[in-house]
Amino acid sequence: MGKKILLEHINVPGIKSLDVYRQNGGYASVEKALKTMAPDVIVEEVKKSGLRGRGGAGFPTGMKWSFLAKPEGVERYLVVNADESEPGTFKDRYLMEKIPHILLEGMITSSFALGAKTSCIYIRGEYFYVSRILEAAIEEAYAAGLLGKNILGTNFSHDIFVQVGAGAYICGEETALLESLEGKRGNPRIKPPFPAVAGLYGCPTVVNNVETIASVPYIVMNGGDDYAKIGIGRSTGTKLISASGHINKPGVYEIEMGITVEDFIYSEEYCGGILNGKKLKAVVAGGSSVPILPAELILRTEKGEPRLMSYESLSDGGFATGTMLGSGGFMVYDETTSIVKNLYTFARFYHHESCGQCSPCREGTGWMEKILHRIVEGHGKHGDTDLLWDIQRKIEGNTICPLGDAAAWPVASAIRHFRAEFEEYINHPERIKEFKHLQELVS
Ligand SMILES: Cc1cc2nc3c(=O)[nH]c(=O)nc-3n(C[C@H](O)[C@H](O)[C@H](O)COP(=O)(O)O)c2cc1C
Repeated sequence: MGKKILLEHINVPGIKSLDVYRQNGGYASVEKALKTMAPDVIVEEVKKSGLRGRGGAGFPTGMKWSFLAKPEGVERYLVVNADESEPGTFKDRYLMEKIPHILLEGMITSSFALGAKTSCIYIRGEYFYVSRILEAAIEEAYAAGLLGKNILGTNFSHDIFVQVGAGAYICGEETALLESLEGKRGNPRIKPPFPAVAGLYGCPTVVNNVETIASVPYIVMNGGDDYAKIGIGRSTGTKLISASGHINKPGVYEIEMGITVEDFIYSEEYCGGILNGKKLKAVVAGGSSVPILPAELILRTEKGEPRLMSYESLSDGGFATGTMLGSGGFMVYDETTSIVKNLYTFARFYHHESCGQCSPCREGTGWMEKILHRIVEGHGKHGDTDLLWDIQRKIEGNTICPLGDAAAWPVASAIRHFRAEFEEYINHPERIKEFKHLQELVS
């Protein structure tokens, strides 16, 4: 069994409650941090840990924290990104639903390190029931003196708020999130300035993912060096993976970074192999935004080395033969899957979720959806594959926020690795019925 940091106590009956959480060592990091550590020391430990943001980009957390502007007399905020709208990703929901206090503990400790008197959880609208779980946990924490004025008798006071979004993927992008939090339409801001300099209400703000912040208590309790020993290379610690698709055991798994992809898919500890003994066709390893890889490239790199569950190994080969760990939304496709139809569902999503600020994304995502729709309906035109390729290239890198890239990369990778399948649809529309089960999904 691999090391568990976040899910160690997940199956303890009653772990959702403050009492049981504390009986299992919960909130010890708040006690330790507030009573025995200076804020800068905590930031140093987080730096040493090598923890990287679990929201998708993998930016080093300690470094982000150290960028926080520190003018005297100006409020600073910690905002937890619980928007989790990336298709294929559901690990933050699992954590917040099952063990909400681990997030609150991480928020209090992190806010102390950052000098933030107020923090906020921005949670997607569809997770309304989870917001109620968080609110109940916050209430318990206030009653126990873990939130509010002079926490545990120290000079540190802190308040946590929960803000429910209205169900927009774009509000997971950190600056759109801040706009939404301020009561405005969730349009991404032009950066710089970055939130660390001018974030919520123009004040220095750290935006971190739920899983990132929930990892902080372990680092405070055990030290950054200890955390850095777990995992592999610059992919330290553990990672929550949302596993779905054609596998025997879908669910949320905590893995030690560095296990092989093959082990993750086929071992009984994790996905338990492909459903009905079918063959693996492809994997989207990090949520719908990352490049899809065919079986041979997800199991082994182009150099023939086993592909590992780590930032570096998954991206080995660049976009030509690699992908990204992203948010850890691991979607597995068996040999019966139509890559083109799967791509069409993704394209519909990105078109629907584009905020419309940037023309390449607003128009391009719509064109890609339209073209893919006619292809899957059997009305594809010769040249459509090249047209799709051309459009995605013109979106990538030409938008304010990375939603444009997120819409382009799945298209580029599907064409790169499965071009023949597109041509098959276009040249032989009569064979489309072979993918009947997916036809139903699309209609
Ligand atoms: C369109 C879009 C959606 C995003 N959605 C999320 C999300 O749901 N949760 C999240 O943590 N990060 C999301 N991100 C990344 C955030 O902008 C940001 O990088 C992240 O919250 C930083 O936290 P981390 O450093 O802990 O990863 C999204 C980015 C984009 C471009």
